[in-house]
Amino acid sequence: MSCLILIGMMGAGKTTVGKELARRRGVRFADVDQEIIARTGVSIPTIFEIEGEAGFRKRESQALNDLTRESGIVIATGGGAVLDPGNRELMAGRGVVVYLNVPPQILWERTRTDRNRPLLQVENPRARIEELYRARDPLYREVADIVIDGGRGNPGTMVRQIEKVVQ
Ligand code: S3P
Repeated sequence: MSCLILIGMMGAGKTTVGKELARRRGVRFADVDQEIIARTGVSIPTIFEIEGEAGFRKRESQALNDLTRESGIVIATGGGAVLDPGNRELMAGRGVVVYLNVPPQILWERTRTDRNRPLLQVENPRARIEELYRARDPLYREVADIVIDGGRGNPGTMVRQIEKVVQ
């Protein structure tokens, strides 16, 4: 069984949807960010602080490469995993890739009080989310086998939509 890989912006619900999908399929769930935290023993903001975004991206590619070898697993990726062409190739080749597409306004409402996402610790996080969304939406679509239009991003609805199209 090939793996199921969830992609999309910060706050799209990849982790919540992934956990529920894995539970219902009776397979293991893994979150790439959590895997990095487990491997390094420090938080994502700490990695950004010490190694910069470039250092974090290397760790992200490594974790993704390792996790996608596991048959059947459901994987929630970080929102920026699609930036690297090597990651995109790897995802497309190893799994069924599902894009959880949630509008920027909702992503902003969900993440506005979050201090755990270094890319959003800027003066105008709302504009940052819109900018990231515009830049990344074409990349998510390029690599996705399936695009789920998340509407208000209700996780239960997204799980059901995915189950309709993924065996
Ligand atoms: C990032 C998303 C985060 C995390 C890191 C960078 C991004 O993951 O990997 O803060 O570039 O969009 P989530 O999408 O799970 O928030």
